[in-house]
Amino acid sequence: MIIIKTQNEIASMRRGGKILSMIMSEIGKMIASGVNTQELDKLAERLVFDNGGTPAFKGYGDKSNPYPATICASINNEIVHAIPSVEKIIKEGDLVKIDIGMEFEGMITDMARTFSVGAMSPEAHKIMNVTREALNQGIAKIKTGAKLSEYSIAVESYARSNGFSVIRDLVGHGVGKILHEDPVVPNYHWSAKDIILKEGMTLALEPMINVGTYKIKLGADGWTYLTQDDKLSAHFEDTIVVKKGGCEILTR
Ligand code: MF3
Ligand code: CO
Repeated sequence: MIIIKTQNEIASMRRGGKILSMIMSEIGKMIASGVNTQELDKLAERLVFDNGGTPAFKGYGDKSNPYPATICASINNEIVHAIPSVEKIIKEGDLVKIDIGMEFEGMITDMARTFSVGAMSPEAHKIMNVTREALNQGIAKIKTGAKLSEYSIAVESYARSNGFSVIRDLVGHGVGKILHEDPVVPNYHWSAKDIILKEGMTLALEPMINVGTYKIKLGADGWTYLTQDDKLSAHFEDTIVVKKGGCEILTR
């Protein structure tokens, strides 16, 4: 069931999303060669609590292996959900993907950015820029009355026309009262039943795009998703609210 949010709920997500994007830019400033990803997580968690929020990822998932951190920090061939660690030390040329969710005034917003570190390979630069633009192309299709598949087709066609592949086994999602609400939001053209977007739907749109195969594998920690061919992957995510004639991006 897709939950339509009230104006008050949207206002809370707007305030939370603004704070979250500020926190993301603080994390971005700290990303540099020699920094480990646990340091990034510590900064993120402090900023979330200092701003009156609660980490939305921490404790998420199966009781036997709950997600242990405030952010996901995934490097190069790691796609998403990599757990921050003192052993994960960022180096020049890395593609670093930071994903963070926060509950604020009872409502959750979710966002991700890909950062470059120093001098990058042309391929790393391209996958980062194409993934950012693929999300923007998709967002441009979102409005009351549009089909969700218009978003998906726009993302996929932009990525593929640039020679990249779109991950199929991981998707975006509704977001707000909980982290993962209906509907699922594929970033590729799918064949199951379509959805007509309605005003007040809140969605986490999050293309994950690969240089090589779209296929993925799960790491031994039960969380980290990696590309099957160990090639690069990029990820951008924003939480949006559907409106008449367009959408409002809550996490920028
Ligand atoms: N943006 C990610 C997602 O929607 C964040 C989930 S991390 C988790 O799947 F740890 F909470 F699972
Ligand atoms: Co998400």
